[in-house]
Amino acid sequence: MESKVNILIVDDEEIVRESLASWLGEDGYEVAAAENGARALERLPERDWNLAMVDLKMPGMDGIQLMDEIRKTRPETIVIIMTAYATVDTAVQAMKKGAYDYIVKPFNPEDLSMTIRKIIEHQKLVKENLYLRKELKKQYRLHDMVSKNHKMIEIFDLVKTVAKSNSIVLVQGESGTGKELLSRAIHMESPRKDEPFVSVSCAALTENLLESELFGYEKGAFTGADQARSGKMELAKDGTLFLDEIGDISLKLQMDLLRVIEQREFRRVGGTQLIPITSRIIAATNRDLKKAIEEGKFREDLYYRLNVISIHIPPLRERKEDIPLLVEHFLDRFNIEMGKNVDGVAESAMRLLMEHDWPGNARELRNVIERAMVVTKGRMILDADLSLPRPSGVPGAPDSRGKSLAEMEKEHIRQVLQENRWNIIRSAHILGIDRVTLYNKIRKYELKKEPVLNT
Ligand SMILES: Nc1ncnc2c1ncn2[C@@H]1O[C@H](COP(=O)(O)OP(=O)(O)OP(=O)(O)O)[C@@H](O)[C@H]1O
Ligand SMILES: [Mg+2]
Repeated sequence: MESKVNILIVDDEEIVRESLASWLGEDGYEVAAAENGARALERLPERDWNLAMVDLKMPGMDGIQLMDEIRKTRPETIVIIMTAYATVDTAVQAMKKGAYDYIVKPFNPEDLSMTIRKIIEHQKLVKENLYLRKELKKQYRLHDMVSKNHKMIEIFDLVKTVAKSNSIVLVQGESGTGKELLSRAIHMESPRKDEPFVSVSCAALTENLLESELFGYEKGAFTGADQARSGKMELAKDGTLFLDEIGDISLKLQMDLLRVIEQREFRRVGGTQLIPITSRIIAATNRDLKKAIEEGKFREDLYYRLNVISIHIPPLRERKEDIPLLVEHFLDRFNIEMGKNVDGVAESAMRLLMEHDWPGNARELRNVIERAMVVTKGRMILDADLSLPRPSGVPGAPDSRGKSLAEMEKEHIRQVLQENRWNIIRSAHILGIDRVTLYNKIRKYELKKEPVLNT
């Protein structure tokens, strides 16, 4: 049996409270009423209110103030503002502050029934969607990584097993596939998680610098070494040493590294004392090491030393089912970081994302989403917000060449509606036309609400 829908009516006029209560009661809702804001706040803890219908003008606390209070304590309760003073300004003001919609007095019982039913259905969908999204996230997560691709899920499972051992791991994959993220996940899943994770970027340094970076040096080891310094191998202690871009190190250093790994001890540059390696080593590369071996650029013996446990992360173009999931993941993240409230990606924009080849993999996708969230004006990311090369034949952002005025108008209205999630009042306000005109244009151009892909 479905749970009851609870509605709280707040209005200083008794006739309004009574007529609303009786109509909504007939529709099967559980209705309660309060005659002012203070009384309404007292009643808030009584039930889980689905909906609060709040009069705008009341003596004492007005509707907007009451709405603020409700939203603080009961963010899941939808607030509708009722007003006899039908000005778009107050409505827009109320909606900016978080009202779901507004309705104008006097009410027509049939319209009211319909409006309330739509709101309750919408609320139900949102709740289900939230639940599903949470479930999805649980299933396909490994620390900061998300994926629903079967190969990736196998990798996630493997990580949990590997994390318990001390074996060297070699992580391979194209640039931006998440090699560092995965290495950090191995560390976080391991008993070493409270020890340091020390990363060395092997490609960024010259041979000599890399050597002292890794092994440290003694005082006087070379000009400029006025003080002894420990290297990353020592700093990693009982944690994890991450050798990033291992495919880029010189042949000489490859030999040194091989010896160090085999003996599990090393010397600082210019030093004599042998220092044991206590950390766990994870190496990563975006190079094809097999090919590098054939070309004589990488030592085969070192390759076999490193390749005890091998993880190859597939490129994003081979697991496109991850695109919506990653988009969702980045939206959540940037909403928090940027203090934004972007709900999702329009269907047509998602299609563009699915069609793109992603040579820069998840990192490229992250950058595209980050940029889109900076430039987007509404709560939806649209085609025009994406900085992607547009495949030919796909209609894109308004392009005035060869278009009639009517076509431009249609496209513009479609976009504004989409950006405002088909909120008619808000869209009409932005377009500078009244609601009736907007409805007429929607009918004339046969515009339809496009579904929003969130997951
Ligand atoms: N599965 C994933 N889930 C969530 N975010 C991901 C995932 N894979 C990659 N990313 C994102 O992509 C970014 C790049 O990942 P990472 O730095 O691990 O790539 P990489 O393989 O080390 O790349 P490079 O070879 O260029 O160093 C991460 O910071 C993260 O934002
Ligand atoms: Mg990296």
